[in-house]
Amino acid sequence: MTPARIILGVAGASGAVLALEAARHLRSIGAEIDLVASSAAERTLTEEIGPDAFGELRAMATRCHAIGNIGADIASGSVPVSGMIVAPCSMRSLAAIAHGLDDNLLTRAASVQLKERRRLVLLAREAPLTLAHLRNMTSVTEMGAIVLPPVPPFYLPHATVSEIARQIAARAVDLLAVAPPVAKAWSGSD
Ligand SMILES: Cc1cc2nc3c(=O)[nH]c(=O)nc-3n(C[C@H](O)[C@H](O)[C@H](O)COP(=O)(O)O)c2cc1C
Repeated sequence: MTPARIILGVAGASGAVLALEAARHLRSIGAEIDLVASSAAERTLTEEIGPDAFGELRAMATRCHAIGNIGADIASGSVPVSGMIVAPCSMRSLAAIAHGLDDNLLTRAASVQLKERRRLVLLAREAPLTLAHLRNMTSVTEMGAIVLPPVPPFYLPHATVSEIARQIAARAVDLLAVAPPVAKAWSGSD
């Protein structure tokens, strides 16, 4: 079977660890990863994780694309990818996607997913939220994207930050529906 080809966009919001966990999870299901990270993302990866984080992320990708390369194949809807995750997604990139700006390869690839009616999962991270943020979340949702704010799964008792990031990344990958779901499910209570 041909492996799923997934675009992993990384924007400059806090929660850079989500990019690494999403990449690890995509690798674990055998997906090919097309990575595109903004320059702000390179900075948050370094500031929040360390100087080797961006290199570690790139090493997990099947293909690495420069943010300014709007001529990359993933900028075209003719390339059969199965969907895209932006982990984490900044409010700037969210706004650009919401308004169809296509101003760099990340936002262009996101627009392509929307126009081709493919899955687009945005781990939009900011707190608290302005009306602009909320309106932009509404707009992308109306266009078919899934906004998955990286809030902790409080139903997992005693989870560490790493476990929380893993669970959020697993939920994001599950939403692409390219492999059987693996995120820990709430087991119910009476
Ligand atoms: C350490 C750090 C943390 C940041 N955290 C956030 C955040 O949580 N959410 C957000 O929307 N922007 C955050 N920003 C600001 C964005 O990086 C900035 O708006 C940038 O222009 C986003 O560009 P991009 O969308 O192309 O990645 C942060 C910046 C830095 C340096």
